[in-house]
Amino acid sequence: MDDQVKMRWTELEAAVADAARHPLKEVFSREPDRLARLTLEACGLTVDLSKTILDEGVVAAGLALADEVDFGAWRAKLLSGAVVNPTEGRAATHSAERGVGSEADVKAAREARTAMKALYERIAAGDFGAVGRVVHVGIGGSFLGPALVIDALPASGPVPDVRIVSNIDAVSLERAIEGADPAKTLMIVVSKSFTTLETRMNAESVRDALGLPAERVIAVTANPDKAHEFGVAPGNILGFAETVGGRYSLWTGVGLAAALSAGWDAFTDLLEGAGEMDRHFAEAELAQNLPFMAALGDIAYASILGAESRAVFAYDERLRLLPDFLQQLETESNGKQVDRNGHRLARPSSPVVWGGVGTDAQHAVFQMLHQGTHLVPVEFLAIREPGHSMDRDHHRQLIANCIAQGAALLAGRSFEEAQRETPDEQIARAKVFDGNRPSSTVVLPRLDARTLGALIAYYEHRTFSFGALLEINSFDQMGVELGKNIARAIASGETASLDLSSKALMDRLTSG
Ligand code: F6P
Repeated sequence: MDDQVKMRWTELEAAVADAARHPLKEVFSREPDRLARLTLEACGLTVDLSKTILDEGVVAAGLALADEVDFGAWRAKLLSGAVVNPTEGRAATHSAERGVGSEADVKAAREARTAMKALYERIAAGDFGAVGRVVHVGIGGSFLGPALVIDALPASGPVPDVRIVSNIDAVSLERAIEGADPAKTLMIVVSKSFTTLETRMNAESVRDALGLPAERVIAVTANPDKAHEFGVAPGNILGFAETVGGRYSLWTGVGLAAALSAGWDAFTDLLEGAGEMDRHFAEAELAQNLPFMAALGDIAYASILGAESRAVFAYDERLRLLPDFLQQLETESNGKQVDRNGHRLARPSSPVVWGGVGTDAQHAVFQMLHQGTHLVPVEFLAIREPGHSMDRDHHRQLIANCIAQGAALLAGRSFEEAQRETPDEQIARAKVFDGNRPSSTVVLPRLDARTLGALIAYYEHRTFSFGALLEINSFDQMGVELGKNIARAIASGETASLDLSSKALMDRLTSG
């Protein structure tokens, strides 16, 4: 890290320390324009960052750091198909799938989508016979994005019954094929590499269990030769670019099952919403740039104040899989210990990302968020239009609860206030909430394919921005290799080099 960059970090740390000296709950009286300044809007999303540490000093120092680490140049590289993944010598061209990228990448993405649409139409038109169920087999990025979209959007496509198999534990597989009519089941095997153990084994097992002929198996991959070797007919293989990372691949043929579930128009809208966010990310000045500003908040909490996790709560059942998706997106991208040049990072990288749905989570983890001892920045998501037609007070209650949690985290309850409720000092002490706990809120007018696309792209670019500020390569995932290699060795009986504990556990679980 050069001296100028070091200096900018020192200034940002000082600004964060300065902001942290003032109680968060007083910020609105100290900065009357704060709400307006830190409520950002684009592509249908409103992001309220006003209950976070981002005051004027922190934002100014964050912008200076961005300048020093060439944030603008790295963003331009990302969005123009230049190499941003130096360890693998690759670009990261997921935005080209949405029409934002180099001419060649956008053209290649369009051609791949034309092939995807043709396959979609063949399925919808009955070329594969009547399709009652699709079994999507894939793991990690080949699973989490499609699963989120399938769960979030109404099933109005040609195949409403889409099941997903990811885990190598065949319980997942047995559930997905239970009751399936083999003559009406189509398997879509999704694997960028087509070498992933779980996916290959699950695909073989589904094929065997249902006796699926080759013509009822579709593969989506960046390695078509491997899919062909696996026995998939060339006409049933959808390719996509090697430069689209697994956790960024939903927008390619990887989303075929999602398109079959939600419909082609919905899939197109998803891409358009994401493309709109790409353009916002590319063009909006950084102080108004949703992904950048949210990432700056993430940096302040995770990398400077040492928050080890960040929690995301969707106050909408349709987004219940969002925390799982974000967990892979953010931690696999930015859970790194070295920078792009291989130098050890001077400060913490990705926090643990976790979360759930409101209001369920209020009855599980919010005790800790309000009174626990860890600093956990919380992110809420709320949607103005309900996803149901029940006319009672469900939605009003849901929203009231969402807002109440952020307000309570901020305001807290003093000992004096608690004593007004109870004269018992010991009980009053247990009823104190420190308050001053940060939260941000993302608001959507409605959840449809377009806003969902924009929302996912917002998180992708926020993840990139976090990595760019730390000068991380967000597009490799070397940390998953070692465990895979050791598992391969253990599964083939090579346990001699294992530590004693691991060897004993293996014996306990498998011998006899
Ligand atoms: O977990 C490692 C990883 O490579 C992810 O990045 C990826 O999404 C997942 O495995 C599945 O990989 P593939 O799509 O190649 O089967």
